[in-house]
Amino acid sequence: METLKERIADVEIVAAKTPIMKLEGIRKSFSGVHVLHQVHLDLYKGEVHALMGENGAGKSTLMKIMAGVHKPDSGTTLYRGQEVHWNNPMEARDQGISVIHQEISLSPNLSIGENILMGTKFPKNRMGLIKWNEIYEKAEVILRSIGSTLNPKVSVSTLSVAEQQMVEIARALSFNSEILIMDEPTASLTDKEIEKLFTIVNDLKKKGVSIVYISHRMDEIFRISDRYTVLRDGHFINSGPITETNPDHLVKLMVGREIKDLFQRNVTKPSELANRKPVLELKHVSDKKTVKDVSFKLYPGEIVGLAGLVGAGRTELVRTIFGTSKLTQGEIFIDGQQVRIQSPSEAMELGIAHVPESRKEQGLFPNLSVKENILMAQIRTYRSAGILQYGKMDADADGYIQELGIKTASREQNVMGLSGGNQQKVVIARWLSISPKVLLLDEPTRGVDIGAKTEIHKIISKLAEKGLAVLMISSELPEILSVSDRILVMHEGKIRAELPRSEATQEQIMYYATGEIK
Ligand SMILES: Nc1ncnc2c1ncn2[C@@H]1O[C@H](COP(=O)(O)OP(=O)(O)OP(=O)(O)O)[C@@H](O)[C@H]1O
Ligand SMILES: [Mg+2]
Repeated sequence: METLKERIADVEIVAAKTPIMKLEGIRKSFSGVHVLHQVHLDLYKGEVHALMGENGAGKSTLMKIMAGVHKPDSGTTLYRGQEVHWNNPMEARDQGISVIHQEISLSPNLSIGENILMGTKFPKNRMGLIKWNEIYEKAEVILRSIGSTLNPKVSVSTLSVAEQQMVEIARALSFNSEILIMDEPTASLTDKEIEKLFTIVNDLKKKGVSIVYISHRMDEIFRISDRYTVLRDGHFINSGPITETNPDHLVKLMVGREIKDLFQRNVTKPSELANRKPVLELKHVSDKKTVKDVSFKLYPGEIVGLAGLVGAGRTELVRTIFGTSKLTQGEIFIDGQQVRIQSPSEAMELGIAHVPESRKEQGLFPNLSVKENILMAQIRTYRSAGILQYGKMDADADGYIQELGIKTASREQNVMGLSGGNQQKVVIARWLSISPKVLLLDEPTRGVDIGAKTEIHKIISKLAEKGLAVLMISSELPEILSVSDRILVMHEGKIRAELPRSEATQEQIMYYATGEIK
């Protein structure tokens, strides 16, 4: 006879072997385009499951099906052994499934507290009035538990993208879910915030929460996940324990071919630049807070990498050049002429383009097509005698779609129907369409898969060959080292080093970036 204890142990083993969530034969198409073909996924209790695949592979779509945002065309969803049909995301959430979406979905005009507890029942007093204090207290407890010091009474519209991401995480945690889907949660977080997030993930795991984790960053995947599933072009490719794979193997599964090493650009020799005039020059530039006494020259045809740790002031420096942030000291010269750039539109007039860090602040127009989003910055130039030249607009849009390899059903597709990485390419296309002299790129390939990364590197390089001057912020040292001619390293708002690529190594850049070498 089995003892009761043994029987309980048996039941637990069986439970551990039965997935808490089982998706089977999932198909989905959007206006006739098949984006998921017979996909399956098993999620076990208490595991972190990495969902991997190139941009547009179908990761977010599959997760939206799991969470009731989309209905599958066919296939079954088994949750705790029962078949379920979600009619909407609220139903799934009430049953314990919550999502941190890739694109932030907060209500900007509501407070942080309201956003965090939205969708739960607001506590009311006997008069039927909402007990706001209780809401703010609850929200505060959740925020503090993830190490955030944000005030729950503050409006979401005042927050930075990273702060919004923390609110989004707090909101997902407020439901005490059994399944938590995290779709690229770290895309706009600092290293410190990422560490905090990983601690939370580990705590949740211990409590038995199952987590689906989507990220393009291999280091994260290998640090926190237990198992993986790879999708390619909407097909299930493989699944298994993370200990039985490695980054090269995963990449091979994702792209279905061997990926050549990162693109290596040939360095423009300093001698070639000697008789060129700098297109952009900064002399002793400071802003209100972060940027301190920055001077450098940028020549036509070169790519300068701006390296440094998160918070070193790289984004602020670029924003100061572009007129988004106020310059308080120093001078900026374009083609040798001193300029006073007061706003982004003045910067654009001077031939400066800026692709900001986060897709969320890049201002995609959600109700417009891919074509309109690409040509938006240039729409005036398509007007001839008061009439828009539709033929030329179509041809130009198609040109960019092809050149950047934007995966879209057509140029007329609504831009929100594109996967996250492909939206990023649309933003880059928009800035290229103004034919700038100076291109300021802030983390241009964040959230972009390996294949598309190489494409974007080639494009940047081609543009430089045509004479464009590029200043590129990147936190990925291999990217900095394979694309730049020269590298500037920032630390605490100052430029600590200027290195030709031939002499730069990852270690050396890190030394300067961490302030080890003064
Ligand atoms: N609402 C929609 N309408 C039309 N097409 C869509 C919609 N949502 C997704 N798609 C298409 O489905 C495909 C898969 O997109 P999905 O967002 O799932 O990719 P992903 O794997 O999450 O990519 P990424 O890494 O870039 O976020 C893409 O080709 C996309 O254009
Ligand atoms: Mg996605």
